[in-house]
Amino acid sequence: MTTQYKIRTLNNHALHPETLMMGYGYSPALSEGSLKPPIFLTSTFVFESAQQGKDLFDVTAGRRQSRPGEKTGLVYSRFNNPNFEILEDRLAIWDEAGRSAVFASGMAAISTVLLAFLRPGDTILHSRPLYGGTETLMRNQLTAFGITPVGFTDGIDRGKIGAAVQEAMAKGRVGLIMLETPANPTNGLVDLRAIAAAADEIGAKQGHRPPVVVDNTLLGPMYQKPLRHGADLAVYSLTKYAGGHSDLVAGGVSGSEELVRKIGMLRGALGTQLDPHSCWMLLRSLETLGIRTERANANARKVAEFLRAHAKIAKVHYLGFLEAADPRKQVFDRQCSAPGSTFSFEVKGGEAEAFAMLDRLKIMKLAVSLGGTETLISHPASTTHSGVARVLREEIGLTEALIRISVGIENSDDLVADLEQALA
Ligand SMILES: Cc1ncc(COP(=O)(O)O)c(C=O)c1O
Repeated sequence: MTTQYKIRTLNNHALHPETLMMGYGYSPALSEGSLKPPIFLTSTFVFESAQQGKDLFDVTAGRRQSRPGEKTGLVYSRFNNPNFEILEDRLAIWDEAGRSAVFASGMAAISTVLLAFLRPGDTILHSRPLYGGTETLMRNQLTAFGITPVGFTDGIDRGKIGAAVQEAMAKGRVGLIMLETPANPTNGLVDLRAIAAAADEIGAKQGHRPPVVVDNTLLGPMYQKPLRHGADLAVYSLTKYAGGHSDLVAGGVSGSEELVRKIGMLRGALGTQLDPHSCWMLLRSLETLGIRTERANANARKVAEFLRAHAKIAKVHYLGFLEAADPRKQVFDRQCSAPGSTFSFEVKGGEAEAFAMLDRLKIMKLAVSLGGTETLISHPASTTHSGVARVLREEIGLTEALIRISVGIENSDDLVADLEQALA
């Protein structure tokens, strides 16, 4: 890529992500003047000479850094590819990160990050709830490698976080701290500043500071920048808000050059990279991330307000309704710049009442994803979180009456009308 396509400021004016998404990191001159990047459907790249092949392999494999002025180049699409390099540059802009890496799915990103930092005998300190897939990976697979998860439910109370830190340290070296804030589907919050302080303390005591990893899928990089608040890595299911159209599966991680380089090396070894076609689709999606999420946010507020006022609804877990006296409010104000558009609510009753309402919806689709242009609605206890033990579900407030909604960008009056007729 020629450097003129990596301009980020204009006369000391810092350009915004919404602007940079239209061209950053891509040079039309390298692709016959094509305004948009072509999809590089190639498995491998041709070397100009045997010596160049040797040099590129040395740099790609991390055996040495590239020399000043040395021509860079691509090797093989498991290690690098123009589409994912452009996408990574642009994701790093959203996250204000040194570097990003993209993966075949959110779970490919999460599992590669966990494997990059954990060793047999380690513990993972984690918030609860985590996405069901992350929880299952930790409890059903990583335990076979001698890795023990230790969870905490209250991510705000420093005393409770401290108790979980003690428990995790008593069981082994804390290899990594895994957080999800806001959490899916309860919208629970974790105080990142408190956790970063805990990571420093653990590091001082055990001689290894565990990286703090935040799954930022629920708000996305538009409304929360975890790296600003003490996290070392932000991970994503890009399938959700970044992709935004429910038509691809992808994952990402952002952080310092050093940490993401290490994760990228493991990605190359495992083969968890994202394919060029999905990268291209994500480049297109990132151009509209701002306007899509703004509209979804506005719609979500209207839907949440309608539900709060409805006689058949017991509770609405919407971050926009946090009250000043609630200890989560300060954390929310510090870490998040909007409540987002995925939240949960409880109907009066239990599973039967929840199912009755879901089955009557005509516009909203019953499906288990989030962050798309269309509104999706689901019953977590019987689907995404059915693998989570009932006692744990009760502890985190994931009841049979709980419904999760991911509000899309339709006309909000139509969404309210759909809920109104389903609840009637
Ligand atoms: C918060 C969160 N993290 C991670 C994932 C996993 O992402 P993917 O389905 O892209 O593997 C999901 C998927 O629903 C999620 O909601």
